[in-house]
Amino acid sequence: MDLQLTNKVAFVTGASKGIGRASAEQLAAEGADVVITARTADALEVTAKEIAAKTGRQIVPMAGDMSVAEDVERCVAATIEQFGHIDVLVTCAGSSPGGLLEELTEEQWLASMNLKFLGYVRSVRAVIGHMRERGAGSIVLVVGNDGLKPSYWEMTAGAANAADLNFASSAAEQYGRHGIRINTVNPGPVNTDRWDGLEKAFARDKKVDQARAHELAVNSIPFGRICESDEVASLVTFLASPKASFLNGAHIPVDGGQRKALMDI
Ligand SMILES: NC(=O)c1ccc[n+]([C@@H]2O[C@H](COP(=O)([O-])OP(=O)(O)OC[C@H]3O[C@@H](n4cnc5c(N)ncnc54)[C@H](OP(=O)(O)O)[C@@H]3O)[C@@H](O)[C@H]2O)c1
Repeated sequence: MDLQLTNKVAFVTGASKGIGRASAEQLAAEGADVVITARTADALEVTAKEIAAKTGRQIVPMAGDMSVAEDVERCVAATIEQFGHIDVLVTCAGSSPGGLLEELTEEQWLASMNLKFLGYVRSVRAVIGHMRERGAGSIVLVVGNDGLKPSYWEMTAGAANAADLNFASSAAEQYGRHGIRINTVNPGPVNTDRWDGLEKAFARDKKVDQARAHELAVNSIPFGRICESDEVASLVTFLASPKASFLNGAHIPVDGGQRKALMDI
């Protein structure tokens, strides 16, 4: 299937590795030029070179912190300056600490909301006026299935993700009439550095070793394995494309039918 992404311009946050990187790579493989952001400039440049070499598309690294409004606005403005327009926004720059209510600190709650919720709001806010003026755009927020399936050890992520889903629903309703589609993708455990860190923290708090923490995750998913970044990126790329023309305000789990409560020991 031709996803009709040739010569489109995509802006992907949190894309030096993990789901963001896989999404940038698949968008480029479908013919899009892609601006990728993350905080660490060196890693971002390496990733950009690797994706460009594989796909032959322009991949532009733009270092910035998506928890800082000025950085988000600067990167979006520089993208429009360089390419003239942005067709697709994908947000992946997110991180929320796992942990138990009585141990989570004020700072951890604020950090989770500041990046995973407000970082996504800032990114959408930075592109939306431009997309409205053009009467076209596709926005995909990579959120997380704990916004749909609460779990007590993941409550900072769950709360930020639930806020993202509500925000995306409202924005989809408001901007659909302007030709902008806004959808969310909601993974369960995905094999990335972030998941590895969460597993270690889960093991610490639940007083089991990491192998047991991994086993609990795997056992909660009917397929008996966790997800790979590419499997999330395929859905992101489809949703970003004109082929998903009637999808708006949708919140799609990509979690293999995970039964979340099975992780709650
Ligand atoms: N992996 C999972 O199991 C899972 C499950 C559900 C939802 N998700 C969500 O999916 C998204 C991507 O997760 P992932 O697992 O792919 O993470 P990852 O492998 O840890 O990659 C995160 C990316 O975001 C960048 N980043 C982090 N903080 C940033 C900031 N403040 N500003 C700009 N970039 C930032 C990182 O680079 P720098 O550190 O250099 O900035 C990196 O490029 C996140 O929103 C996560 O919550 C992941």
